Amino acid sequence: MNISDSVLSVTERLTFALRALYSRYGYQPYRMSKFEDYDLYSRNKDFLISDRVITFTDNGGKLKALKPDVTLSIIRNHTDGATEKLYYNENVYRVSKGTNAFKEIMQSGVECIGDIDGKEIGECLYLAAESLGVIGSGFILDVSSLDILNAALDAVTDSRALQDELVKCVSEKNYHSIVALCKDNGIDEASAAPLTGLISLCGSPEKVMPRLETLCADLGCSDAYDELREALARFADSEHQAKIQIDFSVVSDRSYYNGVIFKGFLNGVPDSVLSGGRYDKLMRRMKKHSKAIGFAVYLDALERFDAEASDPFEESMLNVALPKGRLGEKVYAMFEQAGFECPSLLEPNRKLIFENPKAGVRYFWVKPSDVAIYVERGAADIGVAGKDILLEYEPEVYELLDLDVGICRMAVAAPKDFCDDNSRTLRVATKFSKIAADHYASKGRDIDIIHLNGSIEIAPILGLTDVIVDIVETGATLKENDLEVKETIVPISARLIANKSGYKFKRSQIDRLVQELQS
Ligand code: PRP
Repeated sequence: MNISDSVLSVTERLTFALRALYSRYGYQPYRMSKFEDYDLYSRNKDFLISDRVITFTDNGGKLKALKPDVTLSIIRNHTDGATEKLYYNENVYRVSKGTNAFKEIMQSGVECIGDIDGKEIGECLYLAAESLGVIGSGFILDVSSLDILNAALDAVTDSRALQDELVKCVSEKNYHSIVALCKDNGIDEASAAPLTGLISLCGSPEKVMPRLETLCADLGCSDAYDELREALARFADSEHQAKIQIDFSVVSDRSYYNGVIFKGFLNGVPDSVLSGGRYDKLMRRMKKHSKAIGFAVYLDALERFDAEASDPFEESMLNVALPKGRLGEKVYAMFEQAGFECPSLLEPNRKLIFENPKAGVRYFWVKPSDVAIYVERGAADIGVAGKDILLEYEPEVYELLDLDVGICRMAVAAPKDFCDDNSRTLRVATKFSKIAADHYASKGRDIDIIHLNGSIEIAPILGLTDVIVDIVETGATLKENDLEVKETIVPISARLIANKSGYKFKRSQIDRLVQELQS
């Protein structure tokens, strides 16, 4: 039976194409039940993208789950000794970040488990590139090595908690916070250099590998360098060579993954569409001795993907979300000076979108608290958002620069005569529920959060709450309402943020802007 492409949805067509690809590489189909014992997930919660799982009790009284993941089931059924090369197309059930509701997601992927070495690692990485190529020509495969990142982290600090904070910054390309975190922990610039040096190594293997070799020799992780070099050798003179980038901002959970890890991006799709790497540590946790590498392709991210419109090397407009208001105007003046001018933006009218094709830039005025959403979802490539919004909503974006404008602080404030009574739950009014919850959780203080959308200062005056957690800039609003700062939680300023996928495909424009803004 021949099924014409026109009757298939994008995801169905891709599912068939990927199956054919994996079969050609000698991978065997792996099919399994939709259900799995819940204890498999409860024991490996951190490995899952979300720890929420749909559960039910079967007829025998056993707690079962609708599968949120495929890899754990494959490992559980693996017998040490045999080398298995498997592929799957399965529905998994996960909470979607956007809607916070469960979603059925079609996932394709491969797992190579057994006595694997550099050859298999290179092949799996190449197969990831081939998978992206099946979807569209406009792709970039970012490759990193967790072993190299771990060596750099160990050289900077032996505190696991600080390492975890630094890893988060690495994943955000947040160089300024790495420097600040190190400084706060008594680590000077020279001692932080292994890490800052590593994250500045980003680009084609040709450009990056010679410098990485020296760095790895200094860090004593030449084995990890050799593994990466061998894996990348598979791409020499291949059609995918120009689409491979080394980028240490690709990170995975260090308790499960090791060695080569990677993420795939398609031009026009705001999130990564492929993710994978070596996971020997997960194998050990599941009491298996074999080594393993694999990846998954997130087909649900591709529902609206238009392969024809996805050209990686076309110079297109840089889309910038600016926060409406005084801060946005200040930031625009900085961008204008950096060569991204758009004179029509200053005309007195109520338009919200302005572009200057000559400078290759398009600006949108959006509500300050919405900038991060536009950038995370890829409607804007870059934007300017306050650190308060980034801490509160934790969008998946790069944080490229601290612009040193919009400076204020997040603080706890209360009436002057307020005295905390530890025997009672503290009532806190705020627009920033997460920041407030995290702050009091770190002190072990029991609180009741009352989420308000503005005019927070009146809450303690009317007896609605005891304190507020809010932005303080000049302090005038507090003063005029007879409140005072009791505690500063965190300093705040405006940050330049970028969509992770948009950054890959408009990197020269974004890097030029970053450089100009820094000079
Ligand atoms: C913010 C914040 C404070 C005020 C602080 O409010 O919530 O109310 O600014 O500034 P100050 O220290 O200089 O007085 P915003 O203007 O965003 O209005 P809102 O009350 O609607 O949140």
